[in-house]
Amino acid sequence: MKLIEVENYEAMSKKAGEAVIEQVKQKPNSVLGLATGGTPTGMYRYLVQDYKKNQTSYHQVHSVNLDEYIGLAADSPQSYSRYMNENLFDHINIQKEQTHLPSAGASSDKTEGEKYENLIASLGGIDLQVLGIGENGHIGFNEPGTAFSSETGVVELTASTREANARYFNSIEDVPTHAISMGIATIMKSRQILLLVSGVKKANVLYKLLTGEINEQLPASILKKHKNVTLIADRDALSVVKEKEGSVSR
Ligand code: F6R
Repeated sequence: MKLIEVENYEAMSKKAGEAVIEQVKQKPNSVLGLATGGTPTGMYRYLVQDYKKNQTSYHQVHSVNLDEYIGLAADSPQSYSRYMNENLFDHINIQKEQTHLPSAGASSDKTEGEKYENLIASLGGIDLQVLGIGENGHIGFNEPGTAFSSETGVVELTASTREANARYFNSIEDVPTHAISMGIATIMKSRQILLLVSGVKKANVLYKLLTGEINEQLPASILKKHKNVTLIADRDALSVVKEKEGSVSR
């Protein structure tokens, strides 16, 4: 895992945005794997600003998102479909029919999950996957204990993830209990991965990731086996690593 240490959230967002732009310039018909949540919003802002300024084209790009809640309407304010439109797709020239999220109406693991796996395969696989990390080490919505061999399917959200995401809902009771998520094996097939980590809330999990073993209890730890992962982490996210180790090895 290559570590890029940056000062703050804004610097992380810029570095990540630059990597996405570089990818799209190198390969205009790239397949981008995209994430939602608080972490990548700054990166999306950077991409939108760049688009306005430099007209970087996304016309041939396909996107596949990591996950979607189950049980929310697609236009519900908290749905990831709406998040993607508002944060990115409505502001660049990506073709909406080339943007994909796993289906929110998914009721059975198999059909929806397999459909999404087939879609990714038919697009030729993911060129660049953007990831955030949960405070419990999840990637996508693959919670601790998920098999590293998992493929896309319906998952149950842990209490800690529902609590972490309750900030977007009126109350914790409104946070869906299930989601459909790209599997860990699916994520690992991506040719390149950008893992973005910002803020003190992620400092403990980042410490565990960087110093601990590869273990299904920490889903993100499998990324250490991937050949092309860039971790972009800010000073706050690295604070526990620094405190415990004095320095960070790159
Ligand atoms: C989002 C996703 C999640 C988030 C993670 C961190 O599509 O798959 O794994 O990346 O929960 O969320 P934030 O960025 O809100 O801290």
